[in-house]
Amino acid sequence: MGKIVILTGAGISAESGLGTFRDAGGLWAQHSIEDVATPEGFARNPALVHGFYNARRQQAAAAQPNSAHRALARLQSDCSGEVVIVTQNVDALHEAGGARDVLHMHGTLAGALCAACGHRWPAPDMMEPGELCPRCGGASARPDVVWFGEMPYYMDRIMDHLAGADIFAAIGTSGQVYPAAGFVQEANAVNAHTVEMNLDRSYIASAFDETRLGPATQIVVDWVAEQLGVTRA
Ligand code: APR
Repeated sequence: MGKIVILTGAGISAESGLGTFRDAGGLWAQHSIEDVATPEGFARNPALVHGFYNARRQQAAAAQPNSAHRALARLQSDCSGEVVIVTQNVDALHEAGGARDVLHMHGTLAGALCAACGHRWPAPDMMEPGELCPRCGGASARPDVVWFGEMPYYMDRIMDHLAGADIFAAIGTSGQVYPAAGFVQEANAVNAHTVEMNLDRSYIASAFDETRLGPATQIVVDWVAEQLGVTRA
């Protein structure tokens, strides 16, 4: 089995009870992206932004991984080839489901970052304005989440993985946010087999060789069983 590179989005955590962004009633229907997911919004009203992420941190901490998270972890452990999981999600459900070395390209709710010195530390359950950086003492603590207009993390490593992919699978993402939405083109450029697994066709569905529609807890579990050559119980 060759190298499998997987990109996940909010849809893989939907059945664990965590809201997606762009589905009906999603997070961006409830909150203004400019206010809670940009550096400018944080500078304008840090209390509002901390409140947004504190609520998501609490929800994520109470959520359990679902069978799709666990299936990807099983693929990583049982597959003969290398399996790399890149996620846009800031929850830790991949890790809770047993996955390893997950590349959180949009950061994590579990992390805190000092905007002044770049120091990172485990975020407390509730962050508030004026939190001091443990290293430099500056009152510049923020959630270690990548906001719009900021560079996602691990891009060099992700591009290297895509350059060597034999299979690229996108799961639970609407394909509306770059650079993640462009990963399928990188995979196509090296003739990887590309498959999209989603509840509905995404904005970039036409770029994939294969599309599987349905809830992740069904279609991802089936797909992993096929990759491992096992029939589902
Ligand atoms: N199973 C599979 N797919 C699902 C499920 C499910 N149970 N429920 C929803 N989906 C799909 C939706 O059809 C949609 O295409 O998941 C996708 C979620 O899309 P978005 O809400 O746009 O989330 P995502 O693609 O992860 O957003 C990317 O945008 O706002 C930024 O930083 C944020 O990381 C996020 C990025």
